[in-house]
Amino acid sequence: MGLDIVEQIIHEVSPDFHSSGSLSPLVLRRIAELHRLVGAKVSAETGCGLTTLILSHLSERHTSFTAEYGDSLPKTRRHPLFNPASTRFIINPTQVSLPGHSFPEPLDFAILDGPHAYPFPDLEYFFFYPHVRQGGILVIDDFHIPTIGNMHEFLRDDEMWEHLGDTETTAFFRRTTAPLLDPHGDGWPSQRYNRRYFPYPHALEALYGEGWYQADFGSEKPPERAKVGIDAGPGEEERRLLQGKLAAAQAELADTQAALAATKEQLRHVSSQVDALQNSTSWRVTAPLRSVKAMLRGGGAAR
Ligand SMILES: C[S@@+](CC[C@H](N)C(=O)[O-])C[C@H]1O[C@@H](n2cnc3c(N)ncnc32)[C@H](O)[C@@H]1O
Repeated sequence: MGLDIVEQIIHEVSPDFHSSGSLSPLVLRRIAELHRLVGAKVSAETGCGLTTLILSHLSERHTSFTAEYGDSLPKTRRHPLFNPASTRFIINPTQVSLPGHSFPEPLDFAILDGPHAYPFPDLEYFFFYPHVRQGGILVIDDFHIPTIGNMHEFLRDDEMWEHLGDTETTAFFRRTTAPLLDPHGDGWPSQRYNRRYFPYPHALEALYGEGWYQADFGSEKPPERAKVGIDAGPGEEERRLLQGKLAAAQAELADTQAALAATKEQLRHVSSQVDALQNSTSWRVTAPLRSVKAMLRGGGAAR
């Protein structure tokens, strides 16, 4: 049934049924194929249109974060092949809606195809990536736009994502089991793309040991690109190497500080739970019992 409705939508709905530009049949079929492959039930996208029509049938719960720009929203909503039972629209520019949104459940399938100017897709990525479950799919459209091309290049290198390939100018990634980058932390050297192109690979030896570059990338030398823009005279090279080491050390420190802050937060949470428990009626009611137990153990009275 799922794939029949996809074919029906592809055949019956014109690719230009709204004026913001829809994904092509080839891309829509790939979306449907991967959606089925990962058994997706929960999905979300930025923007709306043909993808919304399709996901409104394929997903049990679909969310479209979309602005009321152009005619894509009214045309999608009114289309007879739209299934409103599964889909909710969050109508606001994503720059406004996403920062305050809390995702109620992990996403099996996500598409970024809302605003395309820099830095908006990156911003959407920031608010989406922690919610894509391991094994879930992330679709990035229009990577021929240079700034989205940068994100595409970054994601292809990132350990959180497996690049499943591109169809036309739409890229498909699957979330791996790599740990989630803490969205409130730092840790740029933990990102493969940054390691690959960092202009001072030696500076990262303090973090990853000698020969880390070869172990990581299986190549004798960092790519030329790592050297772009840093041709320097004598003395200057050494200064920049030291700067590189400093940056790596700062990153390590930032990681440690983030971990410490997380531990402190956990501690605060646990101690407020203990306070609440000790102030609760049941704790007070059972105080005599704890006193008796303490006396039997030879200790003093319990609080
Ligand atoms: C390229 S279209 C999406 C096409 C759709 N995926 C399809 O297959 O038909 C871009 C969509 O993003 C919406 N949009 C543009 N700027 C936006 C913003 N700042 N926030 C949310 N949505 C936006 C447009 O209204 C439009 O629905």
